[in-house]
Amino acid sequence: MPTTTGDGRAIDEKRVAAEAAARLVENGMTVGLGTGSTVAFLLPALADRLLNIRCVATSPATEAQARALGLDVLPFDASAESLDHLDISIDGADQVAPDGWLIKGGGGAHTREKVVATAADQFVVIVSSEKMVEHLAAPVPLEILGYGARATLLEVPGAVLRPSTPRSPDGGLIADWYGEIDDPAKLATWFDSVAGVVGHGLFQPELVSEVIVGRGSSAESLPGRR
Ligand code: 5RP
Repeated sequence: MPTTTGDGRAIDEKRVAAEAAARLVENGMTVGLGTGSTVAFLLPALADRLLNIRCVATSPATEAQARALGLDVLPFDASAESLDHLDISIDGADQVAPDGWLIKGGGGAHTREKVVATAADQFVVIVSSEKMVEHLAAPVPLEILGYGARATLLEVPGAVLRPSTPRSPDGGLIADWYGEIDDPAKLATWFDSVAGVVGHGLFQPELVSEVIVGRGSSAESLPGRR
C-alpha cells in the first residue's frame, strides 16, 4: 500500500520513477547506473527483467548492489575490457529546474555521473516530485583535486569541504558551493574554468533526454533537450 505523506510519499515516487525507467532498457543494451536512493530502486527493477545487458556503475555502492542482484557490471576506464560507450544512463537528481538544468551530487558521485551521462546516447533522470523546483538553489556539489585543494577552495569563494565525507573513488575531495544561482550556464562555465575543480553538480539541459517524475503512484515523462 503506497504511503502518502512526507518522506514516505517521496520514497514511493522514487520507486515509481525508477520502475518506469527500468522499462526503457532493452535486451542487449549497455547501461550506465547512477547513484543514490532512487537508483537503489532502479537496480532490482532492472535485475527482475532478466535482460542480457552490460552495465557500468557510478559508485562503489551502486556497483555492489548491482552485482549482488546479478547485474553484469563492467569497468569504465582505460582497460581493454572496459565499455567506451553506453546506450542509456539512468540516474537521480537533487533538483530539476523548469528550464531543464539539474543539480546532482548529493551523494558526491557527480563527476562520474556526468562522465557516464555524456557517454550515453540517452540520459534519463528519475526523481520524486519534490525534486522539481522553480529555481535552482545552493548548494552545488563540487569535486576538488586533493593536490592544491586549499588553494583551489580560495579560487571558488562560497565553496566549503563537505564535513565527514570520504573522498570520491577517484581521490577527489567533495565540497559544496553556496551562493545565488541566477545563471546556471554562467556558473557552470566558471566552475569549469577553475583548475583543481574536477567536477561540479550543474548538469546542462542538453545532456538530458528525459526526466521521469514520480507523482503519487504515476510516472510522468518530461522530454529533455538532448
Ligand atoms: C548522487 C546524485 C543523486 O542522484 C542525487 O543526489 C539524488 O539522490 P537520491 O536519489 O538519493 O535522492 O547525484 O551523486
